[in-house]
Amino acid sequence: VPVDPFDLVIFGGTGDLAERKLLPALYHRDRDEQFSVDSLIIGVSRSEISDDEYVTWVHETLTKQFAPNEVDPDVWTRFSARLRHQCLDLKSADGWADLDAKFDPEHERVRVFYLATASSLFGPVAQQLHDADMVDARSRIVLEKPVGQDYPSACAVNDAVGAVFEESQIYRIDHYLGKETVQNLLALRFGNSLFEPLWERGAVEHVQITVAEDLGAGNRFEFYERTGALRDMVQNHMLQLLCLVAMEPPASMHHDDIRNEKIKVLRALKPITRASVDDVTVRGRYTAGIIDDTPVPGYEKEGRDAGVPSDEHDAETFVAIKAEIDNWRWNGTPFYLRTGKRLPRKMSQIVFQFKAVPHSIFGDQSLEPNRLVMSLQPEEGVQLTLMTKEPGPGGFRMRSLPLNLHFSDAFAVNYPDAYERLLMEVLRGNPALFMRRDEIETAWQWIDRIIDNWHAEQIQPEEYMAGSWGPTKSFMLVDRDRRRWFNPA
Ligand code: BG6
Repeated sequence: VPVDPFDLVIFGGTGDLAERKLLPALYHRDRDEQFSVDSLIIGVSRSEISDDEYVTWVHETLTKQFAPNEVDPDVWTRFSARLRHQCLDLKSADGWADLDAKFDPEHERVRVFYLATASSLFGPVAQQLHDADMVDARSRIVLEKPVGQDYPSACAVNDAVGAVFEESQIYRIDHYLGKETVQNLLALRFGNSLFEPLWERGAVEHVQITVAEDLGAGNRFEFYERTGALRDMVQNHMLQLLCLVAMEPPASMHHDDIRNEKIKVLRALKPITRASVDDVTVRGRYTAGIIDDTPVPGYEKEGRDAGVPSDEHDAETFVAIKAEIDNWRWNGTPFYLRTGKRLPRKMSQIVFQFKAVPHSIFGDQSLEPNRLVMSLQPEEGVQLTLMTKEPGPGGFRMRSLPLNLHFSDAFAVNYPDAYERLLMEVLRGNPALFMRRDEIETAWQWIDRIIDNWHAEQIQPEEYMAGSWGPTKSFMLVDRDRRRWFNPA
């Protein structure tokens, strides 16, 4: 069903996110006839280009994203007719009336302001929109992650945006929440009676959440150096995954029912103290190595190429954390989190390791405890390992075998990209897949403490070779607890 007519403004309209994600996502939704005829998409940037020049640039960038022949001429005619461009310096008060003049003059439709910019601009832009009288009850504002750099700056951003927009009008993006398989987590947990009774400390020995990437910091070096893996990936994506797997069953799919349960998990996270930080966290940074038979440079060299001398490098490109949730359900069951760049492959998975059987009736044969693996990407599916008997007459030989569910085998559909889903949810006015103010701020409080303690204890990133699964200390983190990371073969 097409959404109601809208005016969508993308601040950062020629930026990296618009180019790689937002414009392709909008094109796809238009191709699938989800937009009404007269909806508008207005790119805002500092470039002094006309509407026509913007249209040409968008065409080039879409052609670059897809294959040249994938931009369908009919869809393009429809899509390009929606595109406008406005040159604005977001820090200046000039030019906002020109932006206003691009909209539907009746001011009668949903206006969405998508801020694909640094979060330091979120407050000032909200204020300019207010001063130019461009905000009303039907307006919505979308904030890209990261919201702030720490708890105080996140509060300041939230206060500034909140002074203009109601909380119900603010959509804070974490694109992991738009991923099909992340949503499938809810289906798996709450659509089956099988797992829920086992989803607790008595049955689950430990949980692992891994988000691995093969790419490096690359051309985002400066952003990355200011941010590091803990802020870039753990504060948002990984903690959101943790919340979804660890939360209590919400009463319904209503956005606040789910968000109320997620925030309880964040509040129950055991603080990482100065005394424990060296034992329960690992920082790493990649050196040159080989991935997929191709040599790749180290972080230091990428920094030098970007003009940032190595003695100024501070960011970690890998983090592992032993997190604990101090509540009734999870007390004593650790959640190991691990994320890094330049690991052997792109792979995200959540592993539930169940407890071993209390007594083996099979003599001294080792029995592997059951494991539930939820793969988020690149392959999406669920695997459950079970102990079985090897066929044949030669006695009772036990073997662990996987029970596999590959979503691509079961459903022959193309999953929309996370941004396609999230943009549609904004246009429809459904905030369930977005983060509420308290979630962001509580997550920052937990993260800030780790960063403060890293500084207090002078914990520097430990080197790991690109193409390996991270620094030695990461293996020791689990080994000390007589556990091991589950890496795909
Ligand atoms: C972004 C981070 O939020 O997520 C990037 O800023 C990271 O550093 C990306 O590469 C990973 O997203 P995905 O969807 O490719 O797993």
